Amino acid sequence: MKSIGGDKLNREDFNLLNKDIIYFDNGATTLKPHILTDSLVDYYNNYSANAHRGDYDISLKVDAMYENTRKLVKDFINAKTSKQIVFTNNTTDSLNKIVFGYFRHNLTFGDEVLLTYSEHASNILPWFELKDEIGIKVNYIKLDENHKVTMENVKNAITSKTKVISIAHITNVVGDVRPIKEIIEYAHKLSIKVVIDGAQSVPHRLIDVQELDMDFLAFSAHKMCGPTGVGVLYVKEDLLNSIKPIIFGGGMNSYFEYDGNKEYKEMPYLLEAGTPNIGGVIAFGSVINYLNKIGINNIEKQEKKLKDYALTKLKEVDNIIIYNDECDSGIITFNMKDIFAQDLAIYLNKYNICVRAGNHCAKILKNELGIKNTCRISFYFYNTKEEIDKLVEILKNPNIMNEII
Ligand code: ALA
Repeated sequence: MKSIGGDKLNREDFNLLNKDIIYFDNGATTLKPHILTDSLVDYYNNYSANAHRGDYDISLKVDAMYENTRKLVKDFINAKTSKQIVFTNNTTDSLNKIVFGYFRHNLTFGDEVLLTYSEHASNILPWFELKDEIGIKVNYIKLDENHKVTMENVKNAITSKTKVISIAHITNVVGDVRPIKEIIEYAHKLSIKVVIDGAQSVPHRLIDVQELDMDFLAFSAHKMCGPTGVGVLYVKEDLLNSIKPIIFGGGMNSYFEYDGNKEYKEMPYLLEAGTPNIGGVIAFGSVINYLNKIGINNIEKQEKKLKDYALTKLKEVDNIIIYNDECDSGIITFNMKDIFAQDLAIYLNKYNICVRAGNHCAKILKNELGIKNTCRISFYFYNTKEEIDKLVEILKNPNIMNEII
Protein backbone atom coordinates (compact mmCIF):
# COMPACT_ATOMS: atom_id res chain seq x y z
CA MET A 1 0.00 0.00 0.00
CA LYS A 2 1.58 3.27 -1.08
CA SER A 3 -0.99 6.00 -1.20
CA ILE A 4 -2.94 6.91 1.87
CA GLY A 5 -4.79 10.21 1.47
CA GLY A 6 -4.61 12.48 -1.55
CA ASP A 7 -6.91 12.36 -4.54
CA LYS A 8 -6.38 8.75 -5.49
CA LEU A 9 -6.54 6.14 -2.80
CA ASN A 10 -4.56 2.93 -3.13
CA ARG A 11 -5.37 2.07 -6.74
CA GLU A 12 -2.10 0.21 -7.13
CA ASP A 13 -3.32 -2.39 -4.63
CA PHE A 14 -5.99 -3.68 -7.04
CA ASN A 15 -5.07 -5.86 -9.96
CA LEU A 16 -8.23 -5.05 -11.91
CA LEU A 17 -7.50 -1.33 -11.72
CA ASN A 18 -4.32 -1.90 -13.74
CA LYS A 19 -6.54 -3.07 -16.55
CA ASP A 20 -8.64 -0.81 -18.69
CA ILE A 21 -11.73 -1.01 -16.52
CA ILE A 22 -13.89 1.48 -14.66
CA TYR A 23 -15.60 -0.28 -11.82
CA PHE A 24 -18.67 1.46 -10.43
CA ASP A 25 -20.48 -1.58 -9.00
CA ASN A 26 -19.11 -1.57 -5.49
CA GLY A 27 -22.57 -1.91 -3.95
CA ALA A 28 -22.71 -5.38 -5.50
CA THR A 29 -19.18 -6.31 -4.47
CA THR A 30 -15.91 -4.42 -4.24
CA LEU A 31 -12.67 -5.20 -6.01
CA LYS A 32 -10.10 -7.25 -4.15
CA PRO A 33 -6.66 -5.97 -3.10
CA HIS A 34 -3.48 -8.06 -3.43
CA ILE A 35 -3.40 -8.42 0.33
CA LEU A 36 -6.56 -10.52 0.14
CA THR A 37 -5.30 -12.89 -2.53
CA ASP A 38 -1.86 -13.12 -0.89
CA SER A 39 -3.48 -14.11 2.38
CA LEU A 40 -5.75 -16.69 0.69
CA VAL A 41 -2.83 -18.21 -1.21
CA ASP A 42 -0.75 -18.30 1.99
CA TYR A 43 -3.49 -20.21 3.81
CA TYR A 44 -4.12 -22.70 1.00
CA ASN A 45 -0.41 -23.23 0.29
CA ASN A 46 1.08 -23.19 3.76
CA TYR A 47 -1.32 -24.14 6.55
CA SER A 48 -4.61 -25.30 5.04
CA ALA A 49 -5.86 -27.28 8.07
CA ASN A 50 -9.35 -27.23 9.53
CA ALA A 51 -10.33 -24.88 12.36
CA HIS A 52 -11.11 -25.78 15.99
CA ARG A 53 -10.47 -29.49 15.42
CA GLY A 54 -6.74 -30.27 15.29
CA ASP A 55 -3.98 -30.60 17.88
CA TYR A 56 -1.08 -30.08 15.52
CA ASP A 57 0.84 -26.95 14.60
CA ILE A 58 -0.80 -25.90 11.35
CA SER A 59 -4.26 -26.43 12.81
CA LEU A 60 -3.36 -24.43 15.91
CA LYS A 61 -2.13 -21.68 13.63
CA VAL A 62 -5.48 -21.75 11.82
CA ASP A 63 -7.31 -21.40 15.14
CA ALA A 64 -5.19 -18.43 16.14
CA MET A 65 -5.61 -16.69 12.77
CA TYR A 66 -9.35 -17.40 12.58
CA GLU A 67 -9.94 -16.05 16.09
CA ASN A 68 -7.70 -13.09 15.35
CA THR A 69 -10.09 -12.06 12.58
CA ARG A 70 -12.95 -12.28 15.05
CA LYS A 71 -11.09 -9.87 17.30
CA LEU A 72 -10.36 -7.54 14.37
CA VAL A 73 -14.05 -7.51 13.44
CA LYS A 74 -14.98 -6.89 17.08
CA ASP A 75 -12.66 -3.87 17.15
CA PHE A 76 -13.76 -2.66 13.72
CA ILE A 77 -17.37 -2.25 14.90
CA ASN A 78 -16.44 -1.71 18.56
CA ALA A 79 -18.30 -4.71 19.94
CA LYS A 80 -17.74 -5.43 23.62
CA THR A 81 -16.59 -9.04 23.24
CA SER A 82 -15.51 -11.39 20.47
CA LYS A 83 -18.24 -13.87 21.33
CA GLN A 84 -20.73 -11.38 19.88
CA ILE A 85 -19.18 -11.83 16.43
CA VAL A 86 -20.48 -14.80 14.42
CA PHE A 87 -18.99 -15.69 11.05
CA THR A 88 -21.68 -16.49 8.49
CA ASN A 89 -21.74 -16.84 4.71
CA ASN A 90 -22.95 -13.33 3.92
CA THR A 91 -25.46 -10.66 5.02
CA THR A 92 -28.37 -12.79 3.81
CA ASP A 93 -27.23 -15.69 5.96
CA SER A 94 -26.78 -13.39 8.97
CA LEU A 95 -30.29 -11.96 8.56
CA ASN A 96 -31.79 -15.45 8.23
CA LYS A 97 -30.00 -16.49 11.41
CA ILE A 98 -31.51 -13.50 13.22
CA VAL A 99 -35.04 -14.06 11.94
CA PHE A 100 -35.16 -17.84 12.40
CA GLY A 101 -32.69 -18.15 15.28
CA TYR A 102 -34.11 -15.39 17.44
CA PHE A 103 -37.41 -13.94 16.27
CA ARG A 104 -39.03 -17.27 15.42
CA HIS A 105 -38.80 -18.04 19.16
CA ASN A 106 -39.58 -14.57 20.44
CA LEU A 107 -42.53 -13.43 18.33
CA THR A 108 -46.05 -14.77 18.34
CA PHE A 109 -49.17 -14.55 16.21
CA GLY A 110 -50.15 -10.93 15.58
CA ASP A 111 -46.82 -9.36 16.55
CA GLU A 112 -45.67 -6.80 14.03
CA VAL A 113 -42.38 -6.22 12.25
CA LEU A 114 -41.70 -2.91 10.54
CA LEU A 115 -39.74 -2.82 7.28
CA THR A 116 -39.58 -0.31 4.41
CA TYR A 117 -40.25 -0.60 0.69
CA SER A 118 -36.58 -0.07 -0.08
CA GLU A 119 -35.26 -3.10 1.79
CA HIS A 120 -33.25 -5.75 -0.01
CA ALA A 121 -34.87 -9.17 -0.58
CA SER A 122 -32.78 -10.61 2.25
CA ASN A 123 -34.45 -8.30 4.76
CA ILE A 124 -37.98 -8.97 3.48
CA LEU A 125 -38.34 -12.60 2.43
CA PRO A 126 -37.28 -14.14 5.79
CA TRP A 127 -39.96 -12.01 7.47
CA PHE A 128 -42.56 -13.13 4.90
CA GLU A 129 -41.64 -16.71 5.77
CA LEU A 130 -42.14 -16.00 9.47
CA LYS A 131 -45.46 -14.39 8.63
CA ASP A 132 -46.56 -17.61 6.90
CA GLU A 133 -45.13 -19.77 9.66
CA ILE A 134 -46.37 -18.09 12.84
CA GLY A 135 -48.70 -15.34 11.69
CA ILE A 136 -46.69 -12.21 12.43
CA LYS A 137 -47.71 -9.08 10.54
CA VAL A 138 -45.32 -7.32 8.17
CA ASN A 139 -45.91 -3.57 8.03
CA TYR A 140 -43.95 -0.78 6.38
CA ILE A 141 -42.55 2.56 7.53
CA LYS A 142 -43.53 5.16 4.91
CA LEU A 143 -40.70 6.80 2.99
CA ASP A 144 -40.71 10.56 2.39
CA GLU A 145 -40.60 12.21 -1.04
CA ASN A 146 -36.83 11.63 -1.19
CA HIS A 147 -37.29 7.93 -0.32
CA LYS A 148 -35.91 8.54 3.17
CA VAL A 149 -36.98 7.24 6.56
CA THR A 150 -37.93 10.04 8.95
CA MET A 151 -38.39 9.70 12.69
CA GLU A 152 -41.91 11.04 12.27
CA ASN A 153 -42.78 8.19 9.89
CA VAL A 154 -41.14 5.66 12.20
CA LYS A 155 -43.25 6.90 15.10
CA ASN A 156 -46.40 6.86 12.98
CA ALA A 157 -45.79 3.27 11.88
CA ILE A 158 -45.27 1.87 15.38
CA THR A 159 -48.29 0.29 17.08
CA SER A 160 -48.70 -1.47 20.42
CA LYS A 161 -48.03 -4.72 18.51
CA THR A 162 -44.70 -3.65 17.00
CA LYS A 163 -41.95 -5.89 18.31
CA VAL A 164 -39.18 -5.35 15.78
CA ILE A 165 -37.93 -2.84 13.25
CA SER A 166 -35.69 -4.39 10.59
CA ILE A 167 -34.04 -1.94 8.21
CA ALA A 168 -30.92 -1.26 6.22
CA HIS A 169 -28.63 1.43 7.61
CA ILE A 170 -27.97 2.52 4.03
CA THR A 171 -30.15 1.12 1.26
CA ASN A 172 -28.63 -0.44 -1.83
CA VAL A 173 -30.64 1.36 -4.50
CA VAL A 174 -31.30 4.92 -3.37
CA GLY A 175 -28.44 4.95 -0.86
CA ASP A 176 -30.36 6.83 1.82
CA VAL A 177 -28.78 6.85 5.26
CA ARG A 178 -31.27 6.00 7.98
CA PRO A 179 -31.18 7.81 11.36
CA ILE A 180 -30.48 4.53 13.11
CA LYS A 181 -29.26 6.05 16.37
CA GLU A 182 -32.55 7.87 16.91
CA ILE A 183 -34.57 4.89 15.68
CA ILE A 184 -32.83 2.48 18.05
CA GLU A 185 -33.13 4.88 20.99
CA TYR A 186 -36.84 5.40 20.38
CA ALA A 187 -37.52 1.71 19.71
CA HIS A 188 -35.74 0.57 22.87
CA LYS A 189 -37.90 2.86 25.01
CA LEU A 190 -40.85 0.82 23.71
CA SER A 191 -39.04 -2.53 24.10
CA ILE A 192 -38.85 -2.92 20.32
CA LYS A 193 -35.80 -4.74 18.96
CA VAL A 194 -33.96 -3.32 15.95
CA VAL A 195 -32.20 -5.34 13.25
CA ILE A 196 -29.72 -3.41 11.12
CA ASP A 197 -28.68 -4.58 7.67
CA GLY A 198 -25.24 -3.01 7.46
CA ALA A 199 -24.22 -4.45 4.07
CA GLN A 200 -23.99 -0.99 2.47
CA SER A 201 -22.82 0.93 5.52
CA VAL A 202 -20.17 -1.02 7.48
CA PRO A 203 -17.74 -0.90 4.50
CA HIS A 204 -18.19 2.85 4.11
CA ARG A 205 -18.46 4.58 7.47
CA LEU A 206 -17.64 4.18 11.12
CA ILE A 207 -20.10 1.95 12.95
CA ASP A 208 -19.91 1.72 16.72
CA VAL A 209 -22.36 -0.94 17.83
CA GLN A 210 -22.07 0.01 21.50
CA GLU A 211 -22.61 3.70 20.91
CA LEU A 212 -25.59 2.87 18.68
CA ASP A 213 -26.84 0.31 21.21
CA MET A 214 -27.48 -2.16 18.39
CA ASP A 215 -29.33 -5.42 18.95
CA PHE A 216 -28.35 -7.15 15.72
CA LEU A 217 -26.12 -6.13 12.82
CA ALA A 218 -25.49 -8.06 9.59
CA PHE A 219 -22.85 -7.37 6.94
CA SER A 220 -20.63 -9.03 4.31
CA ALA A 221 -16.86 -9.16 3.83
CA HIS A 222 -17.03 -9.06 0.04
CA LYS A 223 -18.45 -5.53 0.00
CA MET A 224 -15.38 -4.26 1.88
CA CYS A 225 -12.51 -5.71 -0.18
CA GLY A 226 -12.88 -9.10 1.49
CA PRO A 227 -13.68 -12.53 0.09
CA THR A 228 -17.09 -13.75 -0.99
CA GLY A 229 -18.62 -16.35 1.30
CA VAL A 230 -17.84 -14.58 4.58
CA GLY A 231 -20.43 -12.58 6.47
CA VAL A 232 -20.76 -11.26 10.00
CA LEU A 233 -23.59 -11.35 12.48
CA TYR A 234 -23.24 -9.13 15.55
CA VAL A 235 -25.49 -9.89 18.51
CA LYS A 236 -25.92 -7.66 21.56
CA GLU A 237 -24.48 -9.21 24.70
CA ASP A 238 -27.74 -9.64 26.59
CA LEU A 239 -29.31 -11.49 23.62
CA LEU A 240 -26.50 -14.02 23.27
CA ASN A 241 -28.26 -16.67 25.32
CA SER A 242 -31.59 -16.25 23.52
CA ILE A 243 -30.46 -16.95 19.97
CA LYS A 244 -30.74 -20.52 18.70
CA PRO A 245 -28.94 -22.28 15.89
CA ILE A 246 -30.72 -22.95 12.61
CA ILE A 247 -27.95 -25.24 11.30
CA PHE A 248 -26.89 -28.23 13.39
CA GLY A 249 -23.78 -30.38 13.16
CA GLY A 250 -20.08 -30.44 13.91
CA GLY A 251 -18.38 -27.56 15.64
CA MET A 252 -21.50 -26.31 17.45
CA ASN A 253 -22.00 -29.17 19.91
CA SER A 254 -20.10 -30.22 23.06
CA TYR A 255 -21.54 -33.73 23.15
CA PHE A 256 -24.49 -35.86 22.04
CA GLU A 257 -25.69 -39.35 22.86
CA TYR A 258 -27.63 -42.06 20.98
CA ASP A 259 -30.80 -41.18 22.91
CA GLY A 260 -30.87 -37.57 21.78
CA ASN A 261 -29.15 -36.17 24.82
CA LYS A 262 -27.04 -33.27 23.67
CA GLU A 263 -25.29 -30.13 24.71
CA TYR A 264 -24.47 -27.28 22.43
CA LYS A 265 -21.57 -24.83 22.61
CA GLU A 266 -21.93 -21.20 23.54
CA MET A 267 -21.92 -18.30 21.13
CA PRO A 268 -20.41 -17.65 18.68
CA TYR A 269 -19.62 -21.33 17.95
CA LEU A 270 -23.27 -22.22 18.47
CA LEU A 271 -24.06 -20.58 15.12
CA GLU A 272 -20.98 -21.79 13.25
CA ALA A 273 -21.78 -25.44 12.50
CA GLY A 274 -19.71 -27.18 9.84
CA THR A 275 -16.33 -26.29 8.41
CA PRO A 276 -16.43 -22.57 7.73
CA ASN A 277 -14.77 -20.56 4.97
CA ILE A 278 -11.49 -20.65 6.90
CA GLY A 279 -9.21 -19.14 4.26
CA GLY A 280 -11.82 -16.46 3.64
CA VAL A 281 -12.16 -15.53 7.30
CA ILE A 282 -8.38 -15.35 7.76
CA ALA A 283 -7.99 -13.27 4.61
CA PHE A 284 -10.79 -11.00 5.82
CA GLY A 285 -8.58 -10.28 8.83
CA SER A 286 -5.79 -9.06 6.53
CA VAL A 287 -8.30 -6.89 4.72
CA ILE A 288 -9.53 -5.31 7.96
CA ASN A 289 -5.95 -4.41 8.84
CA TYR A 290 -5.65 -2.92 5.37
CA LEU A 291 -8.84 -0.85 5.72
CA ASN A 292 -7.74 0.29 9.17
CA LYS A 293 -4.52 1.63 7.67
CA ILE A 294 -6.47 3.63 5.09
CA GLY A 295 -8.90 4.72 7.81
CA ILE A 296 -12.65 4.31 7.59
CA ASN A 297 -13.14 8.08 7.96
CA ASN A 298 -10.85 8.67 4.97
CA ILE A 299 -12.89 6.13 3.01
CA GLU A 300 -16.12 7.94 3.86
CA LYS A 301 -14.62 11.34 2.98
CA GLN A 302 -13.27 10.09 -0.35
CA GLU A 303 -16.60 8.61 -1.35
CA LYS A 304 -18.40 11.81 -0.44
CA LYS A 305 -16.02 13.81 -2.63
CA LEU A 306 -16.61 11.40 -5.50
CA LYS A 307 -20.36 11.38 -5.04
CA ASP A 308 -20.61 15.20 -4.92
CA TYR A 309 -18.40 15.53 -7.99
CA ALA A 310 -20.34 12.88 -9.89
CA LEU A 311 -23.69 14.46 -9.07
CA THR A 312 -22.57 17.87 -10.32
CA LYS A 313 -21.20 16.36 -13.52
CA LEU A 314 -24.10 14.00 -14.18
CA LYS A 315 -26.57 16.85 -13.85
CA GLU A 316 -24.96 18.37 -16.95
CA VAL A 317 -26.08 15.36 -19.00
CA ASP A 318 -29.21 15.92 -21.11
CA ASN A 319 -32.09 13.54 -20.47
CA ILE A 320 -30.67 12.07 -17.30
CA ILE A 321 -33.07 11.29 -14.46
CA ILE A 322 -31.38 11.01 -11.06
CA TYR A 323 -33.54 9.38 -8.42
CA ASN A 324 -31.53 10.02 -5.27
CA ASP A 325 -29.60 13.26 -5.41
CA GLU A 326 -30.64 13.95 -1.82
CA CYS A 327 -28.94 10.85 -0.49
CA ASP A 328 -25.83 11.03 1.60
CA SER A 329 -23.87 7.94 0.53
CA GLY A 330 -21.74 6.85 -2.40
CA ILE A 331 -24.65 5.54 -4.44
CA ILE A 332 -26.25 7.27 -7.44
CA THR A 333 -29.27 5.76 -9.15
CA PHE A 334 -30.37 7.07 -12.52
CA ASN A 335 -31.87 6.45 -15.91
CA MET A 336 -31.56 8.12 -19.28
CA LYS A 337 -34.92 9.18 -20.63
CA ASP A 338 -36.39 6.56 -23.01
CA ILE A 339 -33.46 4.18 -22.57
CA PHE A 340 -34.01 0.87 -20.80
CA ALA A 341 -31.65 0.63 -17.82
CA GLN A 342 -30.14 -2.70 -18.85
CA ASP A 343 -29.55 -1.44 -22.41
CA LEU A 344 -27.61 1.47 -20.97
CA ALA A 345 -25.52 -0.83 -18.75
CA ILE A 346 -24.69 -3.00 -21.76
CA TYR A 347 -23.76 0.12 -23.73
CA LEU A 348 -21.45 1.33 -20.94
CA ASN A 349 -19.87 -2.10 -20.86
CA LYS A 350 -18.62 -1.44 -24.42
CA TYR A 351 -16.41 1.19 -22.81
CA ASN A 352 -15.42 -1.15 -19.95
CA ILE A 353 -17.57 0.74 -17.48
CA CYS A 354 -19.26 -1.54 -14.94
CA VAL A 355 -22.56 -0.34 -13.46
CA ARG A 356 -25.46 -2.38 -12.17
CA ALA A 357 -28.88 -2.19 -13.83
CA GLY A 358 -32.21 -3.69 -12.85
CA ASN A 359 -34.21 -3.70 -9.65
CA HIS A 360 -31.14 -4.45 -7.51
CA CYS A 361 -33.00 -7.09 -5.41
CA ALA A 362 -35.20 -4.35 -3.92
CA LYS A 363 -38.26 -5.43 -5.83
CA ILE A 364 -40.93 -3.41 -4.05
CA LEU A 365 -39.08 -0.12 -4.34
CA LYS A 366 -40.65 0.30 -7.79
CA ASN A 367 -43.81 1.39 -5.97
CA GLU A 368 -41.89 4.37 -4.57
CA LEU A 369 -39.72 5.25 -7.56
CA GLY A 370 -42.48 4.73 -10.09
CA ILE A 371 -40.03 2.75 -12.21
CA LYS A 372 -38.94 -0.88 -12.13
CA ASN A 373 -35.37 -0.69 -13.39
CA THR A 374 -32.57 1.78 -12.86
CA CYS A 375 -28.83 2.07 -13.40
CA ARG A 376 -26.73 2.34 -10.28
CA ILE A 377 -23.24 3.70 -9.71
CA SER A 378 -21.74 2.86 -6.34
CA PHE A 379 -18.30 4.15 -5.36
CA TYR A 380 -15.47 2.87 -3.23
CA PHE A 381 -12.32 4.68 -2.15
CA TYR A 382 -10.30 3.69 -5.23
CA ASN A 383 -12.61 5.36 -7.75
CA THR A 384 -11.47 8.64 -9.27
CA LYS A 385 -12.82 11.87 -10.74
CA GLU A 386 -11.23 10.90 -14.07
CA GLU A 387 -13.37 7.77 -14.15
CA ILE A 388 -16.46 9.87 -13.50
CA ASP A 389 -15.44 12.26 -16.30
CA LYS A 390 -15.20 9.32 -18.70
CA LEU A 391 -18.68 8.10 -17.74
CA VAL A 392 -20.14 11.57 -18.15
CA GLU A 393 -18.44 12.02 -21.53
CA ILE A 394 -20.04 8.81 -22.79
CA LEU A 395 -23.47 9.70 -21.43
CA LYS A 396 -23.20 13.11 -23.15
CA ASN A 397 -22.72 11.48 -26.55
CA PRO A 398 -25.50 13.08 -28.63
CA ASN A 399 -25.89 9.83 -30.60
CA ILE A 400 -26.25 7.62 -27.55
CA MET A 401 -29.87 6.76 -28.32
CA ASN A 402 -29.09 5.67 -31.89
CA GLU A 403 -26.05 3.71 -30.81
CA ILE A 404 -28.04 1.82 -28.20
CA ILE A 405 -30.94 1.05 -30.49
N1 ALA B 1 -27.03 -6.45 -2.71
C1 ALA B 1 -26.05 -6.29 -3.74
C2 ALA B 1 -26.33 -5.11 -4.59
O1 ALA B 1 -26.96 -4.18 -4.17
C3 ALA B 1 -25.83 -7.54 -4.51
O2 ALA B 1 -25.90 -5.06 -5.72
